[in-house]
Amino acid sequence: MDTPSSFQTDTLIAEDIGAYLHRHQHKSLLRFITCGSVDDGKSTLIGRLLYDSKMIFEDQLAALENDSKRHGTQGEEIDFALLVDGLAAEREQGITIDVAYRFFTTEKRKFIVADTPGHEQYTRNMVTGASTADLAVILVDARKGVLQQTRRHSWLVHLLGIRHVVLAVNKMDLVGYDRTIFERIVEDYRAFAQDVGIDDFTAIPISGFKGDNITAAPSANTAWYQGPALIEHLESVDVDNAAEQAQPFRMPVQWVNRPNLDFRGFAGLIASGTVRVGDPVRIVPSGKTSTVKTITTFDGDLEEAVAGQAVTISLADEVDCSRGDVIAAASDPPQASDQFRATLVWMDEETLKPGRGYWLKLGTQLVTATVQPPEYEIDVNSREHLAAKTLGLNSIGVAEFATDRPITFEPYSTSRQLGGFILIDKYSNATVAAGTIEFSLRRADNIHWQPTAITREDHAGMKNQIPRVLWFTGLSGSGKSTIANAVEQQLHMMNRHTFLLDGDNVRHGLNRDLGFTEADRIENIRRVGEVAKLMADAGLIVLTAFISPFRAERQMVREMLAQGEFIEIFVDTPLEVAEARDVKGLYRKAREGKLKNFTGIDSPYEPPENPEIRVNTVDMTPEEAARYIIQQILPLK
Ligand code: ADX
Repeated sequence: MDTPSSFQTDTLIAEDIGAYLHRHQHKSLLRFITCGSVDDGKSTLIGRLLYDSKMIFEDQLAALENDSKRHGTQGEEIDFALLVDGLAAEREQGITIDVAYRFFTTEKRKFIVADTPGHEQYTRNMVTGASTADLAVILVDARKGVLQQTRRHSWLVHLLGIRHVVLAVNKMDLVGYDRTIFERIVEDYRAFAQDVGIDDFTAIPISGFKGDNITAAPSANTAWYQGPALIEHLESVDVDNAAEQAQPFRMPVQWVNRPNLDFRGFAGLIASGTVRVGDPVRIVPSGKTSTVKTITTFDGDLEEAVAGQAVTISLADEVDCSRGDVIAAASDPPQASDQFRATLVWMDEETLKPGRGYWLKLGTQLVTATVQPPEYEIDVNSREHLAAKTLGLNSIGVAEFATDRPITFEPYSTSRQLGGFILIDKYSNATVAAGTIEFSLRRADNIHWQPTAITREDHAGMKNQIPRVLWFTGLSGSGKSTIANAVEQQLHMMNRHTFLLDGDNVRHGLNRDLGFTEADRIENIRRVGEVAKLMADAGLIVLTAFISPFRAERQMVREMLAQGEFIEIFVDTPLEVAEARDVKGLYRKAREGKLKNFTGIDSPYEPPENPEIRVNTVDMTPEEAARYIIQQILPLK
């Protein structure tokens, strides 16, 4: 439909991006999601919305991006970021989830619609699309009425804090535009909407195919309908962030803007509240305070800014503040904690590994987080709580989290920006889960680090040595224990203070409650890592001999220790050799099927990629290997 106005829009984009952006920047933006099952007519409806309004397709959006990069002043880029900020987070993450975002605009408002596949198994897609949405259109086929999926979608919509819900009863043309059918569906839906916590919704009878009640209502076929058309409704729902604006002021710092020596500004999107020039603010987590000196935007300086605005704030004092910090109302700052409880939607083929370190990204903060075994899983259809040891693709559960340093957050019910996070696998870089924080755990609030008078340097100094953790890894029977023993003997003769932690031994005491499942091995290494760290703090040279089959946990221990303290020693014995030796007879048992989850047979071993030291036990005796290792770690003091 090439009307003059859409033609103008196109040429304006091509010829004067600045003018185009300016024209659109003062329109409000509504992000919404459509949820429906496979045949509910979702694509038709979205096609219809795009067709009936003046639209910009994704490739044009991409052209726009290139153009603003090439020709744009910073101002244009800021505006562009605003235009697509719903997409930016996912793009940054390189999420490979099957969600298509469409951008379109009418005279009154800009829209981004997330189009997610409707299959039952695609919870993750829906969650990705919904995480930034202001409104959800829940599609129901008039012939089928409210289905199990409708219930599931509604619950997810509620879980993700989407405030506006539209029940679009579609395919009205196929039921003769029958008013009683429409009303019965609305009543059915009302019953369980309340049940999942959706207090209010707008029901609209439509035909995406024929166009009834899409742009104007009532259509001739539904004279009995008195509500708005879908687009009218989308144009008029309130997106002024009233709820966010009523909260205390918070702005996560996205970057520090230092164009010259006289100006240092903190740029970000205001997550909640209002900020005025002169307001006292507190930087979280450092706790430093100052007052707001200027509030700058593309349009110039402001006296006041509110939730949803992208601004650059400068402060009256030279205080430390960087990406990931939150600037907040001084008298009412958000909490910072390293332990909390959250609901987690698992989105990866690989299951959750409790105890493993994942990247946790919350706003602009990035920390390492470990997840406890779930307290329970939630059946997405019945919302029943089920017992669970882990979470698989598309499942939802509640678990406790611990992070390596405090992060600043709020419960998701208070702030979607400061309460929602994603988990990223450290190796594959895939986004594996989305989470919503419920609350900080009291025990974290009430436990504080106690400084001790004698430091780790004092301990090491007294022993006159450099503390180290010599981490031996390799298959069962590779020779870890034998070589570690030889190293310890040689160090002992050199008057070094050492301690050897051996897998089989530790499993008799500290870790006797652990077996050989993935989760147990992760916990095994976590505990041994903590003990090794304590011993290194005490000034010892620690030797550990554990299969430690997973890279992620070896990396976790490395990160727990001081720079250079962790020395990974790969005892590189091929499986055939270890199996031929079979000192403990375990390979035979494993081959006979009498021993399950045996490393190298039916449980994986991930060899180190860049170990500090590699020893080959085929060509070297244990004593030679030990001498070689000691040479590599000199000096010892
Ligand atoms: S780890 O995988 O969690 O690091 P760890 O080093 O503590 O393992 O224990 C490995 C030792 O336990 C092996 O040397 C072997 O003697 C014994 N063992 C018993 N069952 C298994 C199994 N299923 N897989 C590997 N080792 C096992």
